[in-house]
Amino acid sequence: MLAEVPGVVVFGRSGGNVVSRRVGAATRVQKKLGQFIPEDTLSQVRSANDVVELIGSYVPLKRSGSSWKGLCPFHEEKTPSFSVNPQRQTYHCFGCGASGNAISFVMAVEKLTFVDAVRSLADRAGIRIQPQGPREAAEASRRAAISSTVEWATKYFEETLWSSAGVDARKYLLSRGIAATTARTYRLGFALPSWDGLLRAARGFGISQDLLAGAGLVIPRENGGCYDRFRARLVFPIFDVQGRPIAFGARSLDGSEPKYLNSPETELFSKGRVLYGLHVAGEAARKGSLLAIGEGYTDVIMAHQLGFAPMVATLGTALTRDHARLVRRFAEDVRLVYDADEGGERASERGIEIFLEEGLEVRIATLPDGLDPCDLLVRDGSADSFRAAIDGARDYVEYAIDAAQKRHDTTTVSGRAAAAESLLEIVRRLGDPIRRDLVVRRISDALGVSETALRQKLAEKSSKTAPRPASQESDGPVESPRRRWESELVAQLFAMPTRLPSVAAELTAEGLEEKDLSSVLESALAIARSGETPTADRLLLALEDDGARRLAASLLAHEWLPGTEEKQFDGAVGALRQRQKKMRLERLRASRLEAASRGDLSAVEGWLRETESELRRR
Ligand code: UTP
Ligand code: MN
Repeated sequence: MLAEVPGVVVFGRSGGNVVSRRVGAATRVQKKLGQFIPEDTLSQVRSANDVVELIGSYVPLKRSGSSWKGLCPFHEEKTPSFSVNPQRQTYHCFGCGASGNAISFVMAVEKLTFVDAVRSLADRAGIRIQPQGPREAAEASRRAAISSTVEWATKYFEETLWSSAGVDARKYLLSRGIAATTARTYRLGFALPSWDGLLRAARGFGISQDLLAGAGLVIPRENGGCYDRFRARLVFPIFDVQGRPIAFGARSLDGSEPKYLNSPETELFSKGRVLYGLHVAGEAARKGSLLAIGEGYTDVIMAHQLGFAPMVATLGTALTRDHARLVRRFAEDVRLVYDADEGGERASERGIEIFLEEGLEVRIATLPDGLDPCDLLVRDGSADSFRAAIDGARDYVEYAIDAAQKRHDTTTVSGRAAAAESLLEIVRRLGDPIRRDLVVRRISDALGVSETALRQKLAEKSSKTAPRPASQESDGPVESPRRRWESELVAQLFAMPTRLPSVAAELTAEGLEEKDLSSVLESALAIARSGETPTADRLLLALEDDGARRLAASLLAHEWLPGTEEKQFDGAVGALRQRQKKMRLERLRASRLEAASRGDLSAVEGWLRETESELRRR
């Protein structure tokens, strides 16, 4: 049968002749086949199958400018006249005239009907298609209603930001160096300091509480009714790849915790599958075939504002395999650019593993002076040194070797063994035997461990640690890497409690996410400041709360590889210092904002100078 694609001019071959015709609406074709694929499944299937990747799996393609070229799979030729356009997600052969999109391509090469082609593409992307019954139809219409609700709320927050009620939030944007045009482009908004600002506005539009709750905008009260989730916050809408808002991240302006409050998981939004800024960065990434991944909303916005477009961020979660698959559709060259703290380092290491499992090799960029992307970009007022850091990113092997050497004392035998162990984890993620071989050789060189020994170790454990199936990865709850890192940090400090008194004066427990953790550290520091060693006994006695006591006991019980305690301790102290620097910067920002709102320009300048010197401080 001839290629039939709704609404697209399709060229195919029939009896050796190239023919073309226009085919009618999707519904007609599908009804004829007695099946119906819902529109949002169709668009999901389309966006999950990148045409370059798809066609590239049938014929070799080479990049040529902004498109890709190869030998046409539909007619015999010696010189390539077949072109694939990643921006438009279409292909065209200048020789035989065949053209279309991913669906028509599969129909033509695999000789499939429309519905079967969609099925095969859905399989390829791991999307499940079921013939739509009444339940599916109801779900689809609910998703559509939630989507309109989120769109409505985005407008509502935007209007509030630009109204007189948003004056302080606009000053905040100014103090962060976010231009008004940027704020408009990213549709930033403001949530009023009120329990029912949005709720009442929604009522005026006839939007039900049920929909608002489904969109994650309100929180139900126990006794019925509900209240606004986002209050007194700067609102960053989170967009899907098509640029439709699906959720929000909202930043507090007065230092209250949490710094960012995000929408909960909804029928539209799952944070492990979304990258902030991809609706803008995606196209830039396809053009340059490079994509930088960072951590923060402001990192993305500032990079884009200063002209570095291929930048996205995870939403306060670890990278998932879904992220990696998403990224693969846009770029093959991935650069991680995380904050220069230990949390960022761990996130980078985990990111390397995730990407390797999905067949992408990443590089890791390190920013100068321990700055995060946004601070660096604002400090320079340009993307030059940021871009230089991205360009100079180290490959994952080099990065992982450095990290392992930093974490383990490689002058000792046990330290070196531990470093080798951790590096083999990366080798295990490599599917390609040639790459494995090369990486093993580099590890052997770096650690002075023989290749034979490394290979033996690899063979020993490979059956135990085979990569987990994808489904387990993506379905489980997304843990907070920051929180895990925080408790690791405190455990590291307890690796050498005797050294705590000498550093306690300059450390605080301020800003730790978890309450118990922060009281454990607080008590330990208080004991240490009085000159005593916070031993288990002392500490457990000082803690009043049961939860905190249990936590302290487990942190104190952590066993470190013999000989690595000093390293752990120093690492933790360094990380805490970094973090405190970040919080000092945060406070300086707040004072700047406050001075700006008083109209006190000389004070603003003073704060700016202080910020600069703080940024330069170690
Ligand atoms: P950061 O603490 O690095 O924030 O968290 P940031 O992006 O530098 O923010 P600014 O520049 O101070 O405004 C990085 C990211 O982690 C998530 C957010 O997505 C944030 O952008 N995050 C952070 C949360 O989800 N919740 C939090 O409480 C903190
Ligand atoms: Mn940051």
